[in-house]
Amino acid sequence: MAEPRSHWGSRFGFIVAASGSAVGLGNIWKFPYITGTNGGGWFVLIYLACILLVGLPILAAEIMIGRSSQKQPVVAFEVLQGRRTGWSVLGWMGIVAAFVIASFYIVVAGWTMDYTVKHLVDFSKPVRAEALERSLTYQANASFETLRDDLIEERSADLAAPMVASIENRLPPSTWTRFNDFNRAVEFDGGGGRSGRPEPVEPGIRRANLLIDPALAAAVASVEALQPELDEARATALSEATAAVDAMDPDEVRLEATTLYRHRLIGDRMAGTFTELLEDGWTSTFWAVLFMILTMAIVASGVGRGIELACRILMPVLIMMMVGMVLYAATLPSFGEALAFVFKPDANALKPSGVLEALGHAFFSLGIGLGALITYGSYQKSKGTLFGESAWIAGLDTGIALLACMMMFPIIFAFGQDPGAGPGLVFISMPLAFAEIGSGGIVLGAVFFCLLSFAAITSAISLLEVCTSYLIDRWEWSRLRSTLVIGLMITLVGALVAFSSGDGFLFSSWSSGFGMNFFDTLDFIASNWLLPLGGLLIAVYAGWFLPKRLRDAEVASGSPLAYGLWLFLIRFVAPSLVLVVLAQKIGLFDANEALYTLWH
Ligand code: TRP
Repeated sequence: MAEPRSHWGSRFGFIVAASGSAVGLGNIWKFPYITGTNGGGWFVLIYLACILLVGLPILAAEIMIGRSSQKQPVVAFEVLQGRRTGWSVLGWMGIVAAFVIASFYIVVAGWTMDYTVKHLVDFSKPVRAEALERSLTYQANASFETLRDDLIEERSADLAAPMVASIENRLPPSTWTRFNDFNRAVEFDGGGGRSGRPEPVEPGIRRANLLIDPALAAAVASVEALQPELDEARATALSEATAAVDAMDPDEVRLEATTLYRHRLIGDRMAGTFTELLEDGWTSTFWAVLFMILTMAIVASGVGRGIELACRILMPVLIMMMVGMVLYAATLPSFGEALAFVFKPDANALKPSGVLEALGHAFFSLGIGLGALITYGSYQKSKGTLFGESAWIAGLDTGIALLACMMMFPIIFAFGQDPGAGPGLVFISMPLAFAEIGSGGIVLGAVFFCLLSFAAITSAISLLEVCTSYLIDRWEWSRLRSTLVIGLMITLVGALVAFSSGDGFLFSSWSSGFGMNFFDTLDFIASNWLLPLGGLLIAVYAGWFLPKRLRDAEVASGSPLAYGLWLFLIRFVAPSLVLVVLAQKIGLFDANEALYTLWH
């Protein structure tokens, strides 16, 4: 005899748990760095549009499917259709995706725990001391010319970047690809006369040999036509920077150049620290296992007394820590600059492929596409208020992603770091800033990484729950047994992930064979294929196949206008947008090129 189905304590409990699933590393680690690499502004607006037009409707659809079936995804479609149908594949895909995501998620989550402890023990103390000593030596000894040149170089590079980008954007991406291919071929000597290779020839001859191809020649000609303007932009940047630095008080120049020098020293050391962790499979595994044990303990304690309780405690603490960090960030002079970066649209910085990245990330961030919210929805009794709940979850998720930007970018800018630094933003640029802040920075750093671990654990719970609930619902295993078995399996794959960034282990041949390491392969498969595909199928199912009577029952108490709007989005808008993204991935067209053509 199966146990009676567990349920959330209240509607609030459901919302907290579902927001816990949504708010995770995706919001605080990934969103700020992809916002940074895509130049902020437009990217954020497009992300918001993706959430509203695609994410929110699918999120509501998942809850609807879960609530009306009261089963986890594989079983849910059988219950709703009244028999076994092909739709159950959706449930299986979801389990695979959840498993795959969980196995790399716990590794990154482990790093956040590692960094929490690192800050608690003030790991950067020797780094700071050494950097201080060396920068003081620089300040004391470097000639004024050296200091001045260093500062000018840095400033003119910053000034030139946006100008250069806007000029380069005038050519279609395909031209740049050809031009880069050409350049590489000109520079490469063909292997340098090793056995069986042709004798190298002069670069000039290589150039001439390549230019007989009209496509290459055209690309090279159009890039070369831009050259005078590019040179001019760089020269302008250089003279502006020179003028600005020469207008400064010499003492100021000396101080600023010294600060710059110190940032570089600490930055190098922080990058080294992170690389060391990345390549140290054992330490990464240790933290991943610890993180997984905590996650399993919560899931094994049940829906109400485990998942809901943990989220009810961790989510408010997370939000409070975040608000505290944002208040600190608001005291920095760079706060305004950061706000402008995040919210002011700059057309030059956005690449159309950023649009696709925004949609993919909307799925990951909301935690949709693999049935996590079908599972969570199935623990909900009450009907009605579906759209209100969905709006709360999506709103919290988006709000926290934006708060994460407002807490990180002011700090990033205040310490002269690059917002487009990529994945290292959290693990390199932020620790650098905390080190620069000094002893108060240790507290900020510990809070920051602790907050990340909290966000990660409430999300990992939902990934684990998707898999365990299958064994509970279908095979009628006990919750404890299912959690142990699945948790152990995820941990094993997680350990492989933890070792995959180093070399010399099992996975060096993986990297060369797949063109990316094991970690990135899993991320790629799950985030690029399984989630969008799952989301597409869920939209199609909820919009076209879910029996109307069940659909109506779920939204009976809601406003008919919202229902109509939802139905329109889920039937037409969401599926077509996801299809566009998938078509680009299959390589049916190149979004960068297509949008360039549209705009010009
Ligand atoms: N949403 C989480 C994040 O932003 C990750 C996550 C949890 C997730 N559950 C999910 C992603 C289900 C996709 C599907 O970090």
